[in-house]
Amino acid sequence: MPSKKPFLTAVVLGTFFLSGILVGLSVTQAAEENIKPESKAEHDQRMKWWREARFGMFIHWGIYSVPAGEWKGRTDHAEWIRDTARIPLKQYEQFVGQFNPVKFNADQWVRIAKNAGARYIVITTKHHDGFCLFDSKYTDFDIMSTPFKRDIMKELSDACRRQGIAMCWYHSIMDWHHPDYLPRRKWEQRSAEGANFDRYVTYLKNQLRELTSNYGHIGVLWFDGEWERTWNHQRGQDLYNYVRGLDPNIIINNRVDKGRSGMAGLTQEGGFTGDFGTPEQEIPATGLPGVDWETCMTMNDHWGYNKHDHHWKSKEDLIHTLVDIASKGGNFLLNVGPTSEGLIPPASVERLEAMGRWMKVNGDSIYGTTASPFKKLAWGRCTQKPLPDGKTRLYLHVFHWPKDGALVVPGVSNEISGACLWSDPSGRRLAAAERKGGVVVTVPAACPDPIDTVVVLDLKGAPRLTAAH
Ligand code: GLC
Repeated sequence: MPSKKPFLTAVVLGTFFLSGILVGLSVTQAAEENIKPESKAEHDQRMKWWREARFGMFIHWGIYSVPAGEWKGRTDHAEWIRDTARIPLKQYEQFVGQFNPVKFNADQWVRIAKNAGARYIVITTKHHDGFCLFDSKYTDFDIMSTPFKRDIMKELSDACRRQGIAMCWYHSIMDWHHPDYLPRRKWEQRSAEGANFDRYVTYLKNQLRELTSNYGHIGVLWFDGEWERTWNHQRGQDLYNYVRGLDPNIIINNRVDKGRSGMAGLTQEGGFTGDFGTPEQEIPATGLPGVDWETCMTMNDHWGYNKHDHHWKSKEDLIHTLVDIASKGGNFLLNVGPTSEGLIPPASVERLEAMGRWMKVNGDSIYGTTASPFKKLAWGRCTQKPLPDGKTRLYLHVFHWPKDGALVVPGVSNEISGACLWSDPSGRRLAAAERKGGVVVTVPAACPDPIDTVVVLDLKGAPRLTAAH
């Protein structure tokens, strides 16, 4: 690949050696100096928008979309293709010259997310393959070396700002391209001689400075690829502090450190850094009170674009997943994998539109809500919100409409202040009678929304439930 930044290595090396002492010192000091201990109120304030948002769109995009999941007859690859198909680096680098997403339109992508009801977008600035979708001073393995030559992150962050949705970065710690990143893939011939992991960390930090300085305020830094032996708790903590030092208001996921506990993604014991847990492709059976978490999930079976993967989740399933997660107090980060032309696959767009139609009517039952007070509900899920006058609004998400018109809400001992169908513009009250062991809301015989009808039940005071529920 032609080097547009021939002096780069020299600069990086120079900076590293010059600041060998400086870096070592300043980083730990920065950790203490820049990161003022946060009170609970300050922490809650920093997390506020994210907790209220509940729904974000994940985007996995990079040069791996060129092979589109297929390599030498095998069709099950995606963003890991360099590793899973064992493609030598020089050969993989050729995708750079073939990545020309002429149909990319930042405003359109942001509109797709926004119309779905997503309040933030997390996009891969760099995935494990090391390729950067932004214009970085510190590498040539970036978007400016492609025929496209447009800083995708700039266009997207501008579009997000224009449309009022939070821009967030995914950034991989693991890097299969940078010469100083260790370890090499086991199958690789690439020599590791002279590699220096500390120097890699300097590169990582330099890029994070670019990413937090050149694109306006970034909502979340979503790290990944922290599981290899070269990464440890100390490095994780240091990186967390470094990024918060760059922007004190940023939110950082727990994959910055080693406390992720596999796919469950939740740090249950103390000591690990990170503002929220990251369950992957799964939803914790019960939420964890006091712990922030976000389930990330694919819409088919791959994160990056795979042209053979048509195994799409249904719109019903996706809406139920969003509701289920909200009812457990978490966020939903739903992935799309755009093509190398720059298009979000139509199957993804259709599903996002369906979610948007539902959210347009029912968004209030998701945004700014907290977890269900019930352990389990036979007919669906529940989210809740305090009302200004000390009342509590329960949003009853009915997945299975009662055939006899009696929606049984078990265990509630509060006085009822009112009930209605959320989608009914007239706000007509539904009868809600206290019955031994709970409340019964009388609902119309015909189910208004077979996917999920929201019935509102307002209670006086905080929910008081009998123990079994
Ligand atoms: C995994 C995978 C990765 C994907 C990520 C999303 O850790 O390595 O390809 O980006 O999960 O959560």
